[in-house]
Amino acid sequence: MTAGGILKTVEVSDLTKHFRIRRRDERSGPVRNLFRPAWDIHVAVSGLSFGLAEGEIVGLLGSNGAGKSTTMKCLCGILAPTSGFVRVAGLDPFRDRKRVARELGVVFGQKTTLWWDVPVIDTYRLLRHVYEVSAADFDRMMDTVTEVLGLAEFLNTPVRQLSLGQRVRADLAAAFLHRPRVLFLDEPTIGLDIAAKSRLREFVKQIRDETGVTILLTTHDLQDIELLSDRIVLIDRGGKLFEGTLAETIARFAPYTTVRLELSQDVPGEIRVPGAVVERDSELSVRVRFRRDDLPITEVTGYVMRHYPVRDFTVGEPQIEDIVREIYDDTPKAAVVPKVLDGSR
Ligand SMILES: Nc1ncnc2c1ncn2[C@@H]1O[C@H](COP(=O)(O)OP(=O)(O)O)[C@@H](O)[C@H]1O
Ligand SMILES: [Mg+2]
Repeated sequence: MTAGGILKTVEVSDLTKHFRIRRRDERSGPVRNLFRPAWDIHVAVSGLSFGLAEGEIVGLLGSNGAGKSTTMKCLCGILAPTSGFVRVAGLDPFRDRKRVARELGVVFGQKTTLWWDVPVIDTYRLLRHVYEVSAADFDRMMDTVTEVLGLAEFLNTPVRQLSLGQRVRADLAAAFLHRPRVLFLDEPTIGLDIAAKSRLREFVKQIRDETGVTILLTTHDLQDIELLSDRIVLIDRGGKLFEGTLAETIARFAPYTTVRLELSQDVPGEIRVPGAVVERDSELSVRVRFRRDDLPITEVTGYVMRHYPVRDFTVGEPQIEDIVREIYDDTPKAAVVPKVLDGSR
């Protein structure tokens, strides 16, 4: 439950997770350790809060080491929070692991939950018993996953002989066989080729639309976010940076527009546009960059048309890549949206 009293299917509330790491100190020895603790505390997640409503797909986005997998592991019950709490379908995953397992399907793209040496179908049959799925439900689900994920060609192949793409598809099917209310997908498309990625995305979209499953997804692939996520939670160094739709995230983190000008003839000297940064790519090719909030596009295009011999121009829409460039670089995040552009003074 949240402060507002709305029941969330997945809830992360003021989650903090510390890891104790053995201190690497070349002078350490029995005597030294009497005076200094042999452990360092590493803060992986710090005061993180967000929630998912039933049927939502939320993308957890952040650079390497931001705390995405740690958050997922707390949500699965693999790790206990240091402080704060998480809930899945109203349950505490660490304390109530068995009941949560029924509500939950999990895919870690880099690890398989399938038995290595047995044919894929045997793992599914085992899971059917573990989760007490009826034969009729099992058959129906197998038909769906076999078709949508294209499993037929390797259902009788041992997992160790599968390609990565086949293995992840098989894992996704395993995670969904018992019709969980919630799916956690940690980097599900990592290392997959384009065909496997699009198959996976199709499946995720289809099961959400047909079953209303709630999905939390971490990914480095921006297309996963663009094609699947209703909402984005952006995290950095274990804390939440931003939460919103893709459009809102772009507006916040990629506030610049670039207009590309093609001149009909060379202009001697500097080209200036008030309030914008002008970069010259070549004699006849110029880029004008400005904040959309400060400067309407029409004002920029009007100005350059009146002052320079413009033959053509194109307006570049901000892309999700721009956001990622901002969050993946290492500058302090408060400085992501400066009020005045460098160089425009
Ligand atoms: N078991 C662990 N012991 C110590 N540090 C860990 C452990 N797991 C993760 N970390 C550290 O916690 C931080 C967050 O890791 P992780 O959640 O895996 O990030 P992400 O999935 O966003 O790349 C990283 O600095 C990582 O090195
Ligand atoms: Mg990770």
